[in-house]
Amino acid sequence: MSNQIERFEDPGLPEHIHRNADADPLAEKRAEKQVAILFLLSALGTVLTIASYIFMKSDQYVYFPVMGSTNVQQLFIGLGLTLATLCIGLGAIQWAKKLMPDQEVIAERHEFRSEEVDREELVATFHDRAGQAGIGRRPLIKRTLGLAVGLVGLSPLVLLRDTGPLPGKFFETTNWAAGTRLVLDPAGTPIKPEDLEVGAVAQVLPELPAGTPRTLENIGKDAVLLIRLRPEDFNLDPERLSWTYQGIIAFSKICTHMGCAVALYEQQTHHLLCPCHQSTFDVTRAAKVIFGPAARPLPQLALMVNADGYLTAKQPFSVPVGPSFWERNSANG
Ligand code: FES
Repeated sequence: MSNQIERFEDPGLPEHIHRNADADPLAEKRAEKQVAILFLLSALGTVLTIASYIFMKSDQYVYFPVMGSTNVQQLFIGLGLTLATLCIGLGAIQWAKKLMPDQEVIAERHEFRSEEVDREELVATFHDRAGQAGIGRRPLIKRTLGLAVGLVGLSPLVLLRDTGPLPGKFFETTNWAAGTRLVLDPAGTPIKPEDLEVGAVAQVLPELPAGTPRTLENIGKDAVLLIRLRPEDFNLDPERLSWTYQGIIAFSKICTHMGCAVALYEQQTHHLLCPCHQSTFDVTRAAKVIFGPAARPLPQLALMVNADGYLTAKQPFSVPVGPSFWERNSANG
């Protein structure tokens, strides 16, 4: 113990230099203002982030020689976030360096658990130092820090909204309607039953009215797998059997677990496999889940043939397509 104290009292240690803010009230006020300004800049950065997200157009670009073509909205969101986080950090550093207690202390170190009295003293010291940090005595810093920290937490919330539409509504509708023709993806050719041999699989999309753009989002949720079996292979109830046409059956291609594309068809077993987490669906039993984490079958699309002999949807999907973790009625496929 005494050795440790002697080491601290070694005359070779540099003399402690006291800060201006400790001795000069004006310097202390100046430092306090600097910290407050940094916290205010942080708050402004957050406001810039949110305002850029809400008010700026997302399709405007500007060219910079080094960065090339840059999205203006993303640029301002980035600048705002940088300002918000950088200034909050700089403010905290300035506060610690210029205003928080600046005392050299000798800490006695014990190899094992401290004496009870030392532990109590530590807790008391902690509370004491917390008081000395001055958050209570410095209302300006307290308020600006509260503003900066409170606002900086809003940015992730706003940006979260940018991850896409809320899934519950998004998957409730597709472009499939009664009478919509099935067209081959990506050619857009309408398909007749005789175009599919037994054992064949095709990915199809709904035919859209002329001039209607096919967005990537819609391709995802509209995608349907068309599979042709022998009619006697099916093990379906009468209603689901009526949704097939001459051994052709159609299912949504989006896995009901997490939304991956169900892309593997085993012709021998009539199983559809999702490559992401190995959910396996039995085509002969209306895509019943026979393995894996999916909670419900792939939605089945009811088929018929129109007057020209082309395969069409008999009706829209009867249940939402896609992952089922938010679905209210996951028992039905
Ligand atoms: S997304 Fe298909 S099994 Fe997980």
